[in-house]
Amino acid sequence: MAESEYINKIIQGVNYEVLEKLPAKSVDLIFADPPYNLQLKKELYRPNQTKVDGVFDKWDKFKSMKAYDEFTKKWLAACKRVLKDNGTIWVIGSYHNIYRVGAIMQDLGFWFLNDILWIKTNPMPNFMGTRFNNAHETMIWASTKKKAKYTFHYKTMKTFNGDLQMRSDWHIPICSGKERIKHNGEKAHSTQKPAELLLRIILSTSNVGDTILDPFFGSGTTGAVAKRLQRNFIGIEKEKFYIEIANKRIEKIIPLETELLNYKLEIKPPKVPFGNLIEKGFIKIGENIFSKNKQNIAVVNANASISLNGFVGSIHKVSANILNKKSHNGWKYWYIKREDKLILIDELRNQYIQKYLSEYKKKEKILFQIPEQKTEYKTEINNFLSK
Ligand SMILES: C[S@@+](CC[C@H](N)C(=O)[O-])C[C@H]1O[C@@H](n2cnc3c(N)ncnc32)[C@H](O)[C@@H]1O
Repeated sequence: MAESEYINKIIQGVNYEVLEKLPAKSVDLIFADPPYNLQLKKELYRPNQTKVDGVFDKWDKFKSMKAYDEFTKKWLAACKRVLKDNGTIWVIGSYHNIYRVGAIMQDLGFWFLNDILWIKTNPMPNFMGTRFNNAHETMIWASTKKKAKYTFHYKTMKTFNGDLQMRSDWHIPICSGKERIKHNGEKAHSTQKPAELLLRIILSTSNVGDTILDPFFGSGTTGAVAKRLQRNFIGIEKEKFYIEIANKRIEKIIPLETELLNYKLEIKPPKVPFGNLIEKGFIKIGENIFSKNKQNIAVVNANASISLNGFVGSIHKVSANILNKKSHNGWKYWYIKREDKLILIDELRNQYIQKYLSEYKKKEKILFQIPEQKTEYKTEINNFLSK
């Protein structure tokens, strides 16, 4: 983790200089919303002479494309140094800058995972009527190198999207109304991003407790959403005024409770062969196993098959045969007697996983806090040699 003096703080300064002070490979995720390099020379007016609410800020001015590229190389290289090998970076931009930024990212060795289109459901109209209405921005999502492992909560995003795989076009309105931070009645920051964008990004590509860097912190959208979702943030911003606004904004955020942030959906229980339960003494050779209504009683053989009225097969084959099905999940069919009660063999499988499959337990712990395991039925945890 990055050093604690930077965690959950906004550091004032030029990002590529500040980033030199952070340890290498210390952040899990980066969201970067760099200057667009819009090259607007003067303020724009609508036909009715009212002023267009665009981006005319000092921070968006560069002498030339070359100057912009050099700046882009510096901050991206600095970000790459502090990103963990398994971390990922998101960079948002418009047609003015995203192609230059993208090429530089590839030159630096980042590996593109997706480009996401943020489709603005309420874009600013093009008053001049000389081009198409510019109604989207592009976000590049990239890993540190081609084969790097990275966090992606696929099932979470699918569930978020009504059980359909989440697509790469996100329809989200631009920041307005109560969400828009105001100062003396004016927008406090010209390019405040909607929190909804950051919600999807942070939910899908980070875990609770991760550290998220935003090197162009602005009004602090990344920090606000990170805090709400129990992630840490590191913000870097040049302008004192924006830092003040962001700090005030983040102070008011109340983090969600941990249990509301779990990723249970993502965990696939490991495959456990029935034979492993016999080897470890969870089930004894020669024991009976029962259907729920006890009408079918099978015997467990030494080779982990079970026999019922002359039919021999796996727990799955035998239950499928009883139910006249092609296949069936025997773990949910067969019961075993423990302390005069019938318990589902699936319960013994869970006990086996908890006791022997430490890799799985580790993963479970990373994704969410698990309460202490309560074992209702005592099972002898010995091995298959004991009676
Ligand atoms: C496009 S805005 C980011 C807006 C932000 N995502 C939000 O939701 O409010 C870019 C911000 O980066 C800051 N900035 C520009 N160049 C910078 C640099 N080299 N180092 C640090 N901050 C910089 C600007 O002051 C501006 O606030």
